[in-house]
Amino acid sequence: MKIGILCSLVRKEEKLLFDEFRGRGLAFDRIDDREIILDLHQRRWDFDVILERCINHSRALHTLKYLNDCGVRTVNTYEVANTCGDKLLTTLALIRDGIPTPRVLVAHTPESALQAIERLGYPVVLKPAVGSWGRLLSKINDRDAAEAILEHKETLGSYHHSIFYIQEYMEKHGRDIRSFVVGDETICAIYRTSPHWITNTARGGAATNCPVTAEVDEISVRAAKAVGGGVVAIDLFETPDGLMVNEVNYTMEFRNSIDTTGVNIPAKVVDYVVAVARQGK
Ligand SMILES: Nc1ncnc2c1ncn2[C@@H]1O[C@H](COP(=O)(O)OP(=O)(O)O)[C@@H](O)[C@H]1O
Ligand SMILES: [Mg+2]
Repeated sequence: MKIGILCSLVRKEEKLLFDEFRGRGLAFDRIDDREIILDLHQRRWDFDVILERCINHSRALHTLKYLNDCGVRTVNTYEVANTCGDKLLTTLALIRDGIPTPRVLVAHTPESALQAIERLGYPVVLKPAVGSWGRLLSKINDRDAAEAILEHKETLGSYHHSIFYIQEYMEKHGRDIRSFVVGDETICAIYRTSPHWITNTARGGAATNCPVTAEVDEISVRAAKAVGGGVVAIDLFETPDGLMVNEVNYTMEFRNSIDTTGVNIPAKVVDYVVAVARQGK
């Protein structure tokens, strides 16, 4: 079995995955996205599976597209990376499959964005469609703030900030849920608790175990399927009407969730990668 791992910097997650492969006596090639040269005319890639663990979304996206076109199985697929890497595409996939998700309006100019914000009603959350780790999210509480943020984005923002993804603000009482799906199974979940409305652990949110109830499992697996399936992490909001999916992440971080949940996440990922490789045999 020929396994590749596509990555750049080796974070704690990659190290844990390497250790898991090695512990099973499974050899793998490391493919560094800083060094790789994609010869678009050369279509022969002799791998049974490649696990994608890039930090940079564009590098992941282009390489996965190329590899999948060459017939190489990847975890995750290009389709999943493309959908999860863009909050607009993720929300569309969730809506298409009837999965509860907060209301979202999208606009392309500051003027129409202001109208959209007022239509949704304050507070709203404005997000870069492509982004992660809770960066550059704005909770907008009133028209003054809306006008200021929109002017700053128009004047100082890059191209990515000219797409206004405007989401209704969900009152979540200090926490949200992050669930982990591998294949057809919700393997574990954590609560992320924070005094700040942004609960990402990268931003100081505290992780505690969240039981995988039937409801958590069902909505998580459905959300994973909606974006194309594989190894993904789902952000969930608890609401009086039940759980809602905020977003789905495709190169998930999990360092804070192994001891917290007692689930060996890298082992589950490696099981899945091996199963995908075997499908091709
Ligand atoms: N609409 C919202 N209502 C309330 N909190 C939100 C909302 N959107 C995001 N948040 C908070 O901000 C965090 C990061 O937002 P998210 O959409 O997951 O972006 P990122 O890709 O940066 O993680 C969420 O985990 C949640 O704590
Ligand atoms: Mg998130």
